[in-house]
Amino acid sequence: MSQKVIVTTALPYANGPAHIGHIAGAYLPADIYVRFRRWVSPQDEIIMIGGTDEHGVPITLKAEAEGLTPQETVDKYHKVIEDSFEAFGIHHDNFSGTARPEHIKISQEFFEKAKQEAYLFQKAEKQMYCTGCNHFLPDRYIEGTCHHCGAAGARGDQCDACGKLIDAEKLIDPVCKFCGGTKLEEKESQHWFLDLPKLQPEITKWIESKEGQWKPNVYSTVRKKWLEEDLQPRCITRDLNWGVPVPGEEGKVLYVWFDAPIGYISSTAEYFKAKGTPERTDEFWKDPSTELIHFIGKDNIVFHTITWPGVLMSHGGDYILPTNVPANEFLNLEGQKLSTSKNHAIWAHEVVNNIDSELLRYYLATIMPENNDSDFTWDGFELAINELSGTFGNMANRYLTFNNKKFEGKVLSDTSLRTEEDLEFISEIRSLAQASKEKVLEYKFRDGLFDIMSIARASNKYMDTQAPWKMIKEDEVRTQVILACLFESLVMLSQMLKAFMPKTATKLENYLNISPLSFEEIIDYTLPTDHTISADIDILIQRPEEGIIEAEKEKLA
Ligand code: 2FM
Ligand code: ZN
Repeated sequence: MSQKVIVTTALPYANGPAHIGHIAGAYLPADIYVRFRRWVSPQDEIIMIGGTDEHGVPITLKAEAEGLTPQETVDKYHKVIEDSFEAFGIHHDNFSGTARPEHIKISQEFFEKAKQEAYLFQKAEKQMYCTGCNHFLPDRYIEGTCHHCGAAGARGDQCDACGKLIDAEKLIDPVCKFCGGTKLEEKESQHWFLDLPKLQPEITKWIESKEGQWKPNVYSTVRKKWLEEDLQPRCITRDLNWGVPVPGEEGKVLYVWFDAPIGYISSTAEYFKAKGTPERTDEFWKDPSTELIHFIGKDNIVFHTITWPGVLMSHGGDYILPTNVPANEFLNLEGQKLSTSKNHAIWAHEVVNNIDSELLRYYLATIMPENNDSDFTWDGFELAINELSGTFGNMANRYLTFNNKKFEGKVLSDTSLRTEEDLEFISEIRSLAQASKEKVLEYKFRDGLFDIMSIARASNKYMDTQAPWKMIKEDEVRTQVILACLFESLVMLSQMLKAFMPKTATKLENYLNISPLSFEEIIDYTLPTDHTISADIDILIQRPEEGIIEAEKEKLA
């Protein structure tokens, strides 16, 4: 039976380029998962959905800093981000954006429906107001002296000097960041709130049903942070002019975290509309048997496991809820936190110009912050690539060259002459492939890749102990049997690695002169008859040229 699966990637703010922390946190794991799952379950219908988050203060702040309109900012970075994902081989079936009309329509419909279902209520909130430019100020738009430590330049939400949260109305000598004016006052404003206390029993029950299914880092965060406390109503409107307009209310927009995840639905709608099958959006999003999987970073966990399911529930129960939220922890860089403001980052769109994205995909997959924060270092990168090229690349090239030279590339199809050692080797690599498959499907990408590399290590060892280059002096047929075992392991590697290193795996497939195979076909492999590998081969794993990594290190210093 065909299973419908929606895989989403967190919508990055379109206010700057993506960096490798983003790639390792959500986009690469999603891409690996989708590629792998499409391979092992070709009967399933899997859509990979993404886009950029184009609302909220992060966008307007950036627009002001660059002297652009919010829309111009969004257009600029949407393209940079999407292109960098493609350069990393990360492909979404649809990559939309939340400033598009379809998204605005669907978000407004969600708001209206939640109101109708009585999951929203209105309440007056006190908020800072600038009498100079005549509008309410989001916390981040107020600057002043910290009321805790006295440092200047504290923002309305937080003081970077002492790290404490700020009450905007308590800031000393507050200044409006829009106009530089100092005439600020507290004023009441009516806002809409999502009634999370009302939804709490349903949310709690739903989350508890995920125990043991979700990754421990995700489940425990939700449980520790939320389940033990009472949920508070969440304000879902803002006095701003950039965002999804609140229907019928002048000067108000939906809070960016209300509309952003609805972007998963609107991006799906855009996708199916373009395909001429708009009805499929509901077929996916409203069928309880559909799997919904959100790939995100750890800072988004609470929004995806509490607020977002709450929003979905507030629609009256027709939408599905997330099946899994395989969030990653953070990736550090050379022992320090990644920081976009301090430019301590490796920018995705830049690094791919200097280093083969396949190698970056490989290294990032080996250090993915699956359960804990992890560290990207250029020394670590070099070590990992040396290992990859030493065990896997060299072994493949040695086999390809030798078989071409001695047997004109012919592969012996007769397996009846396999020895005990050959059979043991084959059975070992088959179990490794099986184990790897299970891990990848459980979102354990590092372990899954480790098992694949173990296939390469086992093949290397087998090649060294069987030493076909010696055997050929004594027994040509035995040599061909050994080579056919190595051929089989390389066939397996070319298929197993495809989700992790798609271009490299395809290159190997071409060298071996084979067509793509299913998982079952490699696990129960039959050697082809009259098969010849390609005579046109090149180095499989090309390491970065001299000086490239040094240059990258210098950029960070
Ligand atoms: O943290 C962020 O970058 C948010 N823009 C993520 C939003 S994910 C989803 F809700 F759209
Ligand atoms: Zn002002």
